Amino acid sequence: MIYMVDYNLYKGKIRNKVLSKKKYVSGVNVDDIFFNNIFSIIDFYLKKKERVNILDVGTGTGFVPMKIISKYNLKINKNIFIDAVDISKDLLYLAQKRDNLTNYILINNNTKINKKYDLIINRLCPRFSLDKIDTLIKKNGIYIYKEYDNYRGLKEIFLLFKKKWISRENSFFYYNELDKLNFKYLYLKKYNYKRKYSIKDIDNILKSTNIVENYSLKDYNLILSNLGLTFFITQDPYILISSKCVNFIEKII
Ligand SMILES: C[S@@+](CC[C@H](N)C(=O)[O-])C[C@H]1O[C@@H](n2cnc3c(N)ncnc32)[C@H](O)[C@@H]1O
Repeated sequence: MIYMVDYNLYKGKIRNKVLSKKKYVSGVNVDDIFFNNIFSIIDFYLKKKERVNILDVGTGTGFVPMKIISKYNLKINKNIFIDAVDISKDLLYLAQKRDNLTNYILINNNTKINKKYDLIINRLCPRFSLDKIDTLIKKNGIYIYKEYDNYRGLKEIFLLFKKKWISRENSFFYYNELDKLNFKYLYLKKYNYKRKYSIKDIDNILKSTNIVENYSLKDYNLILSNLGLTFFITQDPYILISSKCVNFIEKII
């Protein structure tokens, strides 16, 4: 089942603005690690001169396809095919405007996609159901997922708002669900590092997401009095890589 989510153009734009500022303290850039894994998989297919069918789920403004396209020239690399799905028409419109090489597909709860993929990428779309992934992946296919864990990338904010915190499934939930679906190769790597934010950044994030219940001016003031105008926040992203075919994926990663 595909779940509907309250996500719109306004929220997408705010989120992109805040998250595009890179201020990592530890020097770890988990996105680089995530995309390097993706590039290793694509390179494997290119070396064998085989076609690689990629699906990006919850593509939003097409960040994942853009990263792939800026690494590979799709007009030359004729073996790379990217489809991307999202439930937001507005965001897909923006994605399509930036890049016309990806096949952007608007989906809803009942959409049937009659294709199977070698590589399914999910960056920050926890609501895309794993049952659906299961029907869309080839026998040798690889599913790679990046998300934030229990603290949702905001540990110090969690510590201030434990009672109003809207929690959701963590990395172990997804790991176990994939296990139940018979994904035999399961690699989960969790990261922990600090990143600098301003109160304005955090305010934008909390206004545009469902992280703190009924986020209000009172909550803003609580953050200000506890953390000040700029502060470091501990992030807790993870990467989960999975496949049903252990022999195949072990050749690549
Ligand atoms: C946090 S954004 C991530 C966007 C993009 N993957 C990125 O990394 O920048 C989540 C996206 O998933 C989409 N989405 C949420 N639930 C979905 C579902 N069930 N099926 C497809 N897209 C979904 C939202 O519309 C939104 O564009």
